[in-house]
Amino acid sequence: MTIIVTGGAGFIGSNFIYHMLEKYPDYRIVCADCLTYAGNLSTLKGALENLSFRFCKINICDREAVYRLFEEEHPDMVVNFAAESHVDRSIEEPEVFLDTNIKGTAVMMDACRKYGIERFHQVSTDEVYGDLPLDRPDLFFTEKTPIHTSSPYSSSKAAADLLALSYHRTYGLPVTISRCSNNYGPYHFPEKLIPLMIANALADKPLPVYGEGINVRDWLYVEDHCKAIDLIIHRGKAGEVYNIGGHNEMRNIDIVKMICKELGKPESLITYVTDRKGHDMRYAIDPAKIHRELGWLPETKFEDGIKKTIQWYLENREWWQEIISGEYKGYYERMYKNR
Ligand code: NAD
Ligand code: DAU
Repeated sequence: MTIIVTGGAGFIGSNFIYHMLEKYPDYRIVCADCLTYAGNLSTLKGALENLSFRFCKINICDREAVYRLFEEEHPDMVVNFAAESHVDRSIEEPEVFLDTNIKGTAVMMDACRKYGIERFHQVSTDEVYGDLPLDRPDLFFTEKTPIHTSSPYSSSKAAADLLALSYHRTYGLPVTISRCSNNYGPYHFPEKLIPLMIANALADKPLPVYGEGINVRDWLYVEDHCKAIDLIIHRGKAGEVYNIGGHNEMRNIDIVKMICKELGKPESLITYVTDRKGHDMRYAIDPAKIHRELGWLPETKFEDGIKKTIQWYLENREWWQEIISGEYKGYYERMYKNR
């Protein structure tokens, strides 16, 4: 079995590669990633020594390069993680989101059509459903919830989902889609809420909470997401969408306070800043379908997962300090100075 994992030098893709290499030592795992600001080869250090693993620097929008890779590797499956993933960046500059998230997905699926594939799996997001009101805790996203996006990022992911489903119906491509809630864990890029707050708190810098901090996200430990995708690619049904989430809804402000407490830092570091444009209020996944059909359940409780994550950032300072000392500095200034 050969699996091409696109975007495998990023947060979730790298965790998925480590999961697969450990669980299926006889599989060949090929990572296709063009190493944008969010992709780091150092993240894959532990995989590069593995003879079952190959890293290939490829942009998924580059049709010729993608077709060449398929001719070399004859993959049985593709798991498409490659994407521009940060909502704030999509608000600043949408175009690259349309290129990678929509066109890149189409190129990958065209290659699958041309060369044949057992499964193309599209890693999508709960953000395609838009948001839920804070005063309706009884509402959850199911696979039947209408697509109703808010940001250029979520719109580009929704477009890719629709394209994937159309390739299934029109060409019979064996596609599955997973829509997961917010992940956290090792190798999470420091621009995202949890690692940003850990890094800033450790440096005694202000902790920039958007708006009132009352927006709710449904957090899932990244390993649980990887296990769900593993189940879907092996046992999920082509043409189906699976929601992934752990019923772990938390307000941003409570997460930030929890990080302060764990690190022994004062809550006075918390600074309320101008809200994100179009900021989604609440995400909450109903994971009943994947539980019922594939037996998936999240294994890591948030209290344990957040402790493990903080510990990881304490033990792997080199990884994230190198990132935040580079071009990330300019991004941080643009985003947070005078906010
Ligand atoms: P990430 O930003 O950490 O990593 C993205 C990776 O894709 C990077 O390695 C980057 O170099 C690579 N990439 C970007 N453009 C590329 C291109 N044109 N060609 C090849 N490689 C390219 O993202 P992540 O948080 O790991 O998210 C992975 C996937 O999961 C995305 O599709 C995202 O929409 C989805 N998702 C993320 C979350 C989350 O909480 N992070 C939740 C649900 C779904
Ligand atoms: O729900 C899944 C999505 O989760 C994925 O599809 C996206 O790729 C991923 O980036 C994530 O999107 P969010 O926008 O929810 O994640 P982010 O970490 O950027 O923000 C989480 C919440 O924290 C959100 O309500 C905005 C808020 N926030 C974020 C940052 C970076 C702050 O208050 N301050 C910050 O500095």
